Amino acid sequence: MKTLADRTALVTGAASGIGRATARALAARGCRLALVDRSAEPLAALAAELQLGPRLSTHVADVSSRAAWEALTEEVLSAHGEVHLLVNNAGVTVAKSFFDHTAEDLEWVIGVNLMGVIYGCHTLLPHMLKNSVGEGHIVNISSIFGVVGVPSQTSYCASKFGVRGFTEALQEELRGTPISATVVHPGGISTRIMHNARADDAELQRNLERFFERKTLPPEAVADAIIDAVLADKPRVLVTREAYALDALKRLFPVWGNAVGVRALLKTMRMGPALDAARARVLASAPARARE
Ligand SMILES: NC(=O)c1ccc[n+]([C@@H]2O[C@H](COP(=O)([O-])OP(=O)(O)OC[C@H]3O[C@@H](n4cnc5c(N)ncnc54)[C@H](O)[C@@H]3O)[C@@H](O)[C@H]2O)c1
Repeated sequence: MKTLADRTALVTGAASGIGRATARALAARGCRLALVDRSAEPLAALAAELQLGPRLSTHVADVSSRAAWEALTEEVLSAHGEVHLLVNNAGVTVAKSFFDHTAEDLEWVIGVNLMGVIYGCHTLLPHMLKNSVGEGHIVNISSIFGVVGVPSQTSYCASKFGVRGFTEALQEELRGTPISATVVHPGGISTRIMHNARADDAELQRNLERFFERKTLPPEAVADAIIDAVLADKPRVLVTREAYALDALKRLFPVWGNAVGVRALLKTMRMGPALDAARARVLASAPARARE
């Protein structure tokens, strides 16, 4: 997009972290905003802070629901007329070994992180393609865990690799249209994502929370990268140094790069003991024949 001034942006997961920082940054560049989140209170607080009057609307919705997206699309179009920028950011995670995931955990993570992104594009793209300004952009937030497979994050990695594949395919379909798309792989960002995660192992969650508090960049770094990607029409964005390093490792050494990168990550995130315990539980409950 050539400009963000007087364009309308829909941001999901806008009540916290990366979504909130992106909403603030877009407001500062003169965007109209449709802010979406399942949490009403922090969303209302952000709206009160931004003071954009009718140039801002808030929508409490669950992005994993197709019906919610249909209602949301109607609400947003009637409030703003058009949407030019869609930032599919809402996301959740589960900090558990695959063995400890329940069926609900799997559906929750895939539902919000992957289906939420796909439904958002599916319901809004037809309208975006017909907008009157002749340009528009979609930003889908993946993760560096959409590049590297990490233990305790099987469902999250499945969803974020999915967002990456979906966005890369969509980019090819959108060639020659007024809409383009970016996939973002941030790396560790200090937000409440781990605090909001579902986890059975308090120690694993605490270690992960500590990592996300200390060894990470602020969400404003991702907001700036998103705005730069939209204005410069970048198809792919990495944000932290670790994200660049892990991405390079996987490209240079596609076979063993994952294991080496993960070993380094586990050390920094202090996840080793909790994952060893989970592996031991898997082995203990496996059928006797499989252990022989
Ligand atoms: N924090 C990181 O290190 C990091 C790294 C890479 C990618 N990401 C991704 O960035 C995105 C934003 O996460 P964050 O770190 O800012 O986390 P966060 O927990 O601070 O914010 C996520 C927001 O999404 C909202 N949300 C969750 N489920 C929803 C649903 N079903 N419908 C509507 N809204 C919902 C939450 O209420 C919250 O406001 C996510 O997609 C996440 O996977 C985060």
